[in-house]
Amino acid sequence: MYSRFMDTKLDAWEILHAEVQLGGFAPAAEKLNRSQSTISYAAGRLQEQLGVRLFEIRGRKAHLTAARTALPMLFFTALLPAAETAHLSIDASKAGAKIDRNLFGQFAENLGHGLYEGIWVGPDSPISNTRGIRNDVVTALRALKVPNVRWPGGCFADEYHWRKGIGASAQRPATLNAAWGDVVDPNSFGTHEFMDFMQQIGSEPYVSINVASGSPQEAAEWLEYMTAAKPTALAKERAANGHPDPYPVGFLGIGNESWGCGGSMTADGYLSQLKIYSHFVRNDNPAQQGKNGMLRIAVGPGFPETEWTETVMKGWQHHDWTWNIDGLSLHWYTVANGWTPSTPSTAFGVAEYAKTLKSTLFMEEFLRKQEAVMDKYDPEKKVALAVDEWGAWHAALPGTNPSFLVQQNSIRDAILASLNLNIFARHASRVRMSNIAQMINVLQAMILTDQEKMVVTPTYYVYKMYVPFQDGTFVPITFDAGTYTQDSVSLPRVDALAARDASGKLWVEITNLDPEKPVDLDAEIAGMTFHSANGETLTAPAADSVNTVAAPNMVVPKQLTASVKGGKLALTVPPKSVTVLSLEP
Ligand code: AHR
Repeated sequence: MYSRFMDTKLDAWEILHAEVQLGGFAPAAEKLNRSQSTISYAAGRLQEQLGVRLFEIRGRKAHLTAARTALPMLFFTALLPAAETAHLSIDASKAGAKIDRNLFGQFAENLGHGLYEGIWVGPDSPISNTRGIRNDVVTALRALKVPNVRWPGGCFADEYHWRKGIGASAQRPATLNAAWGDVVDPNSFGTHEFMDFMQQIGSEPYVSINVASGSPQEAAEWLEYMTAAKPTALAKERAANGHPDPYPVGFLGIGNESWGCGGSMTADGYLSQLKIYSHFVRNDNPAQQGKNGMLRIAVGPGFPETEWTETVMKGWQHHDWTWNIDGLSLHWYTVANGWTPSTPSTAFGVAEYAKTLKSTLFMEEFLRKQEAVMDKYDPEKKVALAVDEWGAWHAALPGTNPSFLVQQNSIRDAILASLNLNIFARHASRVRMSNIAQMINVLQAMILTDQEKMVVTPTYYVYKMYVPFQDGTFVPITFDAGTYTQDSVSLPRVDALAARDASGKLWVEITNLDPEKPVDLDAEIAGMTFHSANGETLTAPAADSVNTVAAPNMVVPKQLTASVKGGKLALTVPPKSVTVLSLEP
């Protein structure tokens, strides 16, 4: 009996506890912010695992048996899973690569409710806004110190014609968004609105130009329109449209997935286009010359094979003054069951949780393979890798337009985000930019909106907790990750990251992947004396816990203090958690 209890999942126990405390499925579902079907499924599974009859169905109602009422007490007093242990060792005097703040970039495509409703409500909206841009969203995003935002796509970029999105809003043509559901696009959110949004959230624009259905001339004119300071016709047109000063364009994407939705090109075909575009598309903003120059990012692979990277980098190795690039993009999504995305973003169990995390860890191998090719042609690492689309791609939420890629965001997604950010940081000498897909209401979003309401997701909190790592210096950390096994899926139990910020403070992140067991950590820290360690931990009642407009605080970070004795740090991190601590000298 004892071992059967120990096999039982903590998640189901939490559900059972709530059911017994509150007297049924419906109030437990409400309290835990889960569907009633999840609650009754978990109870059924627990019953099977324990071999104890916990409830019986009479009529259409579930009734508790006498055995059931006694179980939680037994569990909570005697059977909590024992903590695992882990040992970390950090030498704070050692310095690795800079963790570029642009690793924490975002992606806002004209897709579904990402821009329209998510950011743009228009100046006449009853929803509080500044020049048409939602104030609640801006306030939330400012706290993330978003370094850059990629816009307007994605697949949408290679169908976008910028002239349709400038000038008086009422005169802009309505077009079809053929990339995403053929919905009518009023073009109200164009260049000026995007730049205004960037200025409001304090971020740098990463503009993707249209290489597939556009032309080098159209792209060159868009750049001149945005960046020229001299009184050219295009600069005057920009001024007439309300912005005399040139806009900053920090990053330029030359096409998007040109091997797929961006023109179905071969690598050689793309390379020819790249040479032309990278020469003629200029940034004329006087503030963005020399070392502050705009970084040009070429299309890279979206598949593990390396031929595309090989072709572009080999071409780049022999580039002359007529063309150049500063980055190569890479797209890789976590699609746990393979294409087409089918993993639910709500009401899933620990098996689905583990499978998704296993799938996300493939990012490490993917990067290693592509980097090996880049190192061959660019040993000095002049060309950065920009992972400008990544994140969890789950099944669309039932009842939503499948072209709008709407999904919920759980603690599983938060853990997935921290694992990827840690991978990027470990590869920081080459990976200098990343853009999670996507910022609002689409895929692995930071924010979900519902009319005038808004909720921030568990992934949002990870980005917030990681702010101190922006532009930090990587500090090597060694640890034995241990193993967490779920069915046939084996994963490292813990992951960790350390960095020093500009003030010398040491920041340590620990991810506990195990959804059931806490981890007792002790960390030896050499190279610095410190007296206190404080921080935050993000965890949740269940592996599929989410925040909703009705229950926005299911997954929120909580304060945490670690004990410090004789240069050692000791703390217990909860199951399925992301923890960030700062160590004060
Ligand atoms: O992020 C959604 C889509 O995924 C992007 O538009 C495209 O580039 C990728 O295939």
